[in-house]
Amino acid sequence: MTFERANIRAMAGYTYGEQPDDPRVIKLNTNENPYPPSPRVGEAIAGFDYRTLRRYPPATADDFRRLAAERFHIDAEQVVVTNGGDEALRLALTTFVEPGGVFGMAEPSYSLYPVLANVHGARIERVDLDTSWRPTADFVGQLNAAATELTCIVNPHAPSGTLLDHQTIDELAAAHDGVLLVDEAYVDFVDPSLEHNLVPLIEKHDNLLLLRTMSKGYSLAGLRFGFLMGPAELIAPIVGKTRDSYNVDGISQRIASAAFADHPYAADTWARVRNERERLSKDLSALGLSSEPSQANFLLTKVGGRFPNGAKHVQDELRRRGILVRHFADARLDEYLRVTVGTPDENDRLLNALESIAG
Ligand SMILES: Cc1ncc(COP(=O)(O)O)c(C=O)c1O
Repeated sequence: MTFERANIRAMAGYTYGEQPDDPRVIKLNTNENPYPPSPRVGEAIAGFDYRTLRRYPPATADDFRRLAAERFHIDAEQVVVTNGGDEALRLALTTFVEPGGVFGMAEPSYSLYPVLANVHGARIERVDLDTSWRPTADFVGQLNAAATELTCIVNPHAPSGTLLDHQTIDELAAAHDGVLLVDEAYVDFVDPSLEHNLVPLIEKHDNLLLLRTMSKGYSLAGLRFGFLMGPAELIAPIVGKTRDSYNVDGISQRIASAAFADHPYAADTWARVRNERERLSKDLSALGLSSEPSQANFLLTKVGGRFPNGAKHVQDELRRRGILVRHFADARLDEYLRVTVGTPDENDRLLNALESIAG
């Protein structure tokens, strides 16, 4: 006897990246920012009056919505705040996909997408990316032919770091019959000289949502705070109907606002991550490990040459040396490791460990 719904019984859950308690472990496995959040976060926590917890928090997190609207030159009605980017994904499914309807995704991408679609009872249309991890010419054609109601794509792409430019997203949104959610979890790490900015596209397309998170760029993975931007017609049903009544707690709202307002501090960490991304990519390549060009805070590195036992073996050997990186049980990714860019010292220790594994 089971009380689970049939689709819950049949599905597999999300496989979390390892989160060790030992602070000596070098964590290059879940794409966290290697630098701590802004000191303004510490001040916000220290100044938080615990007695205010007696009351419910601001229901729609309007202070943060206003800050985001100012930063991105949009209206607060075009922003909805969520309990991490993950909740934003779940809300998009709940709001835009009929039970039994079709959810679209590029393959490979964030492994939570199919889990959320299965929970919702959606059918999943997976469309393979090409060999440089970009959509094929027929990408949207396939999604439309399957009557896809919502498609998620990650940009910069995870796990490769490949960036699709403004024009490509513009064309994808124009061609897609359903809602296109561009998951910009890693967009803060894009080289500013590219002047990459998709926000103006939400004025042009009535079916485009952009997902942001405070977890990566703002070093707040432990907080659980994200948001969606899009046309008010897409945002309103989430704010008013599908969201939990108080989906983001009062402490999180204060902390996220403090971190977001200290843009110069966060931007400095992004610049440091970008510098190390270039350096790490070069040094890995000197070891014979070539990486995809990445605009995110991680590198997808192909393992071969001096590492004849393959990527999974290297991951295990690194783990024995106290360094965590990610390997995916996916045929197309089997030869690769995804390595989060760490601090210069962490990256040095990774490179030394790889040298010792190569022997
Ligand atoms: C592609 C992608 N999207 C969204 C998220 C969600 O992040 P969070 O729920 O921490 O905001 C992640 C986290 O790893 C991610 O990799």
